[in-house]
Amino acid sequence: MSGSYDLNALFAPKVVAIIGASATPGKIGNTVIQNLIDAGYEGKIIPVNPKSTEILGRPVVKDVAGLPHGLDLAVLTVPKQFVLGSMEELVKIGVKSAIIITAGFKEVGGEGAELEKKIQALCIKNNIALVGPNCLGLINMSDKVNVTFAPGQPLPGRISCFSQSGALFTSILDWALGEKVGFSKFISLGNEAVLNESHILEYLGNDPDTSVVMGYMENIIDGQKFIEKVKEVTRKKPVVVVKSGVSSAGAKAAASHTGSIAGADNAYSTAFKQTGVIRAQSMSEFFNLAQAFSKASLPQGPNLAIITNAGGPGIMATDACEKTSLKMVQPASATIESLKKVLPSYASFRNPLAIGGDATATAYKAALEEIVADDSFNAVLVILTPTSTAFEHIEAITQGLIDTIKKTDKPVFPCFMGKERISIAEKMFQNADVPFFTFPEPAIESIETMYKYAQWKEREEMTYVVPERDKAKAAAVVEEAVKTGATEIVEYQAQQILKAYNMPALASDLATTADEAAAAAEKIGFPVVLKIASVQISHKSDVGGVKVGLKNAGEVRAAFTEVTERAAKMRPDAHITGCLIQQMAPKGTKEIIIGFKRDAQFGPLLMFGLGGIYVEILKDIAFRLVPLSKEDAHNVIREIKTYKLLAGARGEKGVNFESLEDVLLKVSQLAADFPQLTEADFNPVLVNSERAYVADVRLALK
Ligand SMILES: Nc1ncnc2c1ncn2[C@@H]1O[C@H](COP(=O)(O)OP(=O)(O)OP(=O)(O)O)[C@@H](O)[C@H]1O
Ligand SMILES: [Mg+2]
Repeated sequence: MSGSYDLNALFAPKVVAIIGASATPGKIGNTVIQNLIDAGYEGKIIPVNPKSTEILGRPVVKDVAGLPHGLDLAVLTVPKQFVLGSMEELVKIGVKSAIIITAGFKEVGGEGAELEKKIQALCIKNNIALVGPNCLGLINMSDKVNVTFAPGQPLPGRISCFSQSGALFTSILDWALGEKVGFSKFISLGNEAVLNESHILEYLGNDPDTSVVMGYMENIIDGQKFIEKVKEVTRKKPVVVVKSGVSSAGAKAAASHTGSIAGADNAYSTAFKQTGVIRAQSMSEFFNLAQAFSKASLPQGPNLAIITNAGGPGIMATDACEKTSLKMVQPASATIESLKKVLPSYASFRNPLAIGGDATATAYKAALEEIVADDSFNAVLVILTPTSTAFEHIEAITQGLIDTIKKTDKPVFPCFMGKERISIAEKMFQNADVPFFTFPEPAIESIETMYKYAQWKEREEMTYVVPERDKAKAAAVVEEAVKTGATEIVEYQAQQILKAYNMPALASDLATTADEAAAAAEKIGFPVVLKIASVQISHKSDVGGVKVGLKNAGEVRAAFTEVTERAAKMRPDAHITGCLIQQMAPKGTKEIIIGFKRDAQFGPLLMFGLGGIYVEILKDIAFRLVPLSKEDAHNVIREIKTYKLLAGARGEKGVNFESLEDVLLKVSQLAADFPQLTEADFNPVLVNSERAYVADVRLALK
């Protein structure tokens, strides 16, 4: 049904009715009207109240039935027990959108949750764009609408923000007022009975008055929808979110290694990364990015110039730069020549450009003009420490910088280090709509985030391919397991699936007796690996159920007896089918883990990492949501810390990356093909410079 909601009626209503309007100052039903008036709302306000005749100078309508047909927006502040009745009345007059500020619904559970379900169904059936319940309301400074009970009017601007927390909404607004950061739209989403972040993102993505989207989220209701919508938005404008609740509940009950490592937060981070959403790790980063993105243009390359009146901070900034993908290239020789004419001889004509502790407005302005004119640079950080000269000239310095910043397309970030003595400059920059920092590190982090976003916008389209496979053959194995009520498909059963997906399996055969085992080994060729085969034994090594490097028939027979007897003793509950005899992968392979876990919101989350016994401790892993593109498969391998180890350290040959990418794409396809598979481990996938071998596989079922 989404898309059929009239969000224009919600954000830019021509007529607003307040159901539960009050003549008493301080009551929500009064504050909302006062806020609308204070915002300079130019449409019609209709207070609805059975007892009053006039509220804040506006004539009152007795009941909903008295409202005009096709009303744009109704704001409900009536007590909880009257909300559903009011909504039913509003349906009769064909209301287009509504905001239920009233609380006491899903968030309290029980009866409240039941009531919310009824309201939800009513709105969905009648295409009512509903915000809330249990929210603060909505602001649209571009159209002078403020239907919240939040104190204070924000400044108009080009950021639009949505929040799943009403309390944070007020904090963000207050911070923005203090920092002179302006907003276009501001939405408190509340319980999201109808409209959620995906609807809002779609609207803001197309909104010409919004150039930066910010969001505070606790959860996403429909992950697939979010991905689909937000991907479109990040093509056009940055989306910066703070997502709280990073604990990985549910991970404990995992059946696989992948399951125990991949928590819900990994799914969120991966979804954000894959859709170009910028995740702020803290509120301070969120605010820094809000002002940087809204006040400066995007750096068109990684080259950063630093201008400073002090050596130490220049070095600090250079250090901070080292940790990022930004580069501190040197000025062009023509720039150096020009700089020599305008700066004192003791200045350093390198990057960072140290213009001297006694630099005044002339030096700062001249230096910045030369640097922004130099094509070597894509962004500039201007550092000032309040030395006695700088402090004396601070207003002139600031004004000179502002004048230059206003004339260039390049992003310039003033970083005046201090508090008391630089406060005048901070105000001047805020009023001039220039981003301002007091420390170099957050400034540089913000510049890098903007640069990365610029790269994201320019990125190539991804290529998706469906690997050739025999789905029916794999389905037969999965269905058979489901039919028997199994919770897992263990290695010996999964061999057919590997074959069906053309994965690089190792020759293997199931043996039910020691003689069969010896015969199978002769056929495969020595050395072989022998592994316990039992539907109930998932982690084979835990029962001493894996023997590698068996060199002859005698060793195989002995291993069969030893392994099956020990397993029977250790796991009397398990039915032991026999042993899997497997070709031994060549010496010198590296162990990789590939796996997936189906996330409730986002679907299968695929994991790639260095395998072996330390995987849970080292957690050197990277994630992608399924389906993986060819580029994803290529990149995810290069994201782990030990990638260099795989690429070949100290003269060693690198592994065959194409073969790993091939396995990744096939595992991705398997996860997409079979929703019954909840978790999977391909652990290890052994790989050398020649090829990969899938040496173990475990699939968990619903
Ligand atoms: N065919 C093979 N060739 C070479 N080494 C092998 C082979 N099969 C298994 N191994 C080695 O034995 C180890 C244990 O085998 P396997 O992964 O099958 O057992 P597991 O106990 O089920 O593992 P886990 O529970 O840790 O996933 C592997 O990690 C690998 O080092
Ligand atoms: Mg294993």
